[in-house]
Amino acid sequence: MKDVSALIQENGAVQDRSIYWDRDIYELEQERIFARSWLFLTHESQIPLAGDFITTRMGEDEVIVSRHTDGSLQAYINSCPHRGNQVCYAEMGNTKSFTCAYHGWAFGTDGKLITVPLEHETYYDNIDKARFGLQQVAQIESYRGLVFATFDPTAPPLMSFLGDMAWYMDAFMDVPGGTELLGPPMKSILDCNWKVPVENFIGDGYHVGWAHAAALDAINRLQGLGGAETNPLMSMQGNAGYNPDGTGIQVSTLGGHGMGIIWETAAALHVNPAYGEWLAYRTETIRAERGEWAAKLYNGHWDASIFPNCSFLYGTNTFKHWQPAGPRSIEVFTWTLVEKEMPEELKQYLAMMNMMTFGTAGMLETDDGENMEGCTGSNRGWMTRQGKVYAGMGQVNEGPHPELPGIVSEGIVAETSYRGFYRAWADMMSGKSWEEMSRGASRRSIKEVA
Ligand code: FES
Ligand SMILES: [Fe+2]
Repeated sequence: MKDVSALIQENGAVQDRSIYWDRDIYELEQERIFARSWLFLTHESQIPLAGDFITTRMGEDEVIVSRHTDGSLQAYINSCPHRGNQVCYAEMGNTKSFTCAYHGWAFGTDGKLITVPLEHETYYDNIDKARFGLQQVAQIESYRGLVFATFDPTAPPLMSFLGDMAWYMDAFMDVPGGTELLGPPMKSILDCNWKVPVENFIGDGYHVGWAHAAALDAINRLQGLGGAETNPLMSMQGNAGYNPDGTGIQVSTLGGHGMGIIWETAAALHVNPAYGEWLAYRTETIRAERGEWAAKLYNGHWDASIFPNCSFLYGTNTFKHWQPAGPRSIEVFTWTLVEKEMPEELKQYLAMMNMMTFGTAGMLETDDGENMEGCTGSNRGWMTRQGKVYAGMGQVNEGPHPELPGIVSEGIVAETSYRGFYRAWADMMSGKSWEEMSRGASRRSIKEVA
């Protein structure tokens, strides 16, 4: 394997192509990134009742996430301590226990071993059941309903891991009633490395007008627009009218999270005015209570990624989990992100639009999927793989912002947040301690910058 410390160069701007293809690098990612980071599991709204559970993965490790009888959230590895069989094959449900299909050991919703068939007749009552529970994750916590866990007992608390990213997400998650993810998720498989969609969502404003030119045009027509009156994102179509001044920002926060925000365009891709009307209704409260910056962030359209493998678009209401399934394959899980207090018809409309745009066969998802597979597949060639790819855009135009946390660049077409992601990736891959990675956040309340 290549020298890990040389895979990312020029402050995050240059990536060695082997990181999108090499099996050994992928295995090291499992150990140094997925076994250490806080990883998204589910939203509390998916498991509200005692006994509710879902199954998911942390890296390649299969886990069960459940709501125990005492109301606590629990997560443990979905593999029987007897001979290793999966103890749960369902994707979600409600249960009192998980019973292994092989020899019948049964576990409670806290993962503890409850019953062992023939315990008296074969173990002569000499088995210490406390020793054979399902292996627990080291830490589990929620942030505004989003449930995360880590296998690393030394990982800092979730809020410290999220840092300024949580500060930004509060702009739309800290609303009356909170937010929820509508599931069950749509599912698909893409033949690409897991980092490719993460970088697409963390900051690829560059491809919007180009790769999605036809989709933008179709949406514009669906909106009944055309001629002089067009959707605000149509100015990016074909790169004909992109203007960096005052149209938006790109942000990289410590820990490898990041986003791009286009001001005043949260509802730009919608064909039903109900969403814009909801935003206008909510904005008044947000402006009055938390100030102008909060209102501005709430009305922007966001593309964003939470390190390492979770992304969302606020405005287009899609929430993505990119599950690694080998160096060249991912399983994609797509939920719809809504505010809990929205009327039911609006939620259903948003779920339908998410399906049309970023669902498995969505107009924009299919544009992206082909490009993501292309960016990975070209590295099959041994000589190709010896080369590098480049994310150096916007380096001359980024830095601290007088009012917002993180490294900020003006204009949404930049690669500032890519570089932050790859700096964090390189830190973790080189085995740095949490202290060395200085994940501390410069958290401030929205009120402080208002
Ligand atoms: S493998 Fe699960 S009970 Fe034997
Ligand atoms: Fe896209």
